[in-house]
Amino acid sequence: MRPAWVEPAASNQPQRYGPRGGTAHEDVFGTERTRSAEEVPRRFSEAVRAECEEICGRYPQRRAALLPLLRVAEREFGCVDLGAMRLVAEVVDVSPAHVWGVFSFYTHYRRPGTGRHLVQVCRTLPCELRGARAVWERLRSRLGVGDGETTPDGRCTLKRVECLGSCGTAPVVQVDDDYHEGLTPEAVDRLLAGVLGA
Ligand code: FES
Repeated sequence: MRPAWVEPAASNQPQRYGPRGGTAHEDVFGTERTRSAEEVPRRFSEAVRAECEEICGRYPQRRAALLPLLRVAEREFGCVDLGAMRLVAEVVDVSPAHVWGVFSFYTHYRRPGTGRHLVQVCRTLPCELRGARAVWERLRSRLGVGDGETTPDGRCTLKRVECLGSCGTAPVVQVDDDYHEGLTPEAVDRLLAGVLGA
């Protein structure tokens, strides 16, 4: 069910927002399976609460700790879902809609339904000029999934993303927390064999 704090569509037609052209809700949750998922209440342990307070203390305003706390939530819950966003909103003392607005801008947080490995392929111009299209096509054909999709065994989610901030070593693919740079289609084969065991 669409949570109350998600902005309703202005008309009967769903509004289209993100790069995949989905509604805001769809763009956060990504897949048909998770699109209809109910919100799961989330809680931090006392230790994690203390960690959150320590992180908040590094900033002049609690709301400035939003991004690192989303990372904490991702680590604790395996992804950032609606319940995690609501919890982080409480911790940094902003509205859940504010958290949603910030979270939906970033592609690097794990969404519900993300596979065990998240493979992000940069599609911004410097990478495109250096062969990102061929790298993307090799990954797409080897994994058998498209943009934003997860392999049937749940092993990998493949995504095209904007600049990963390493344009000097284009084309760049990020697998989980690691960058793989200067890739070619042949290097993609080695990457899949070595890192993903595919
Ligand atoms: S354009 Fe690909 S890392 Fe910047």
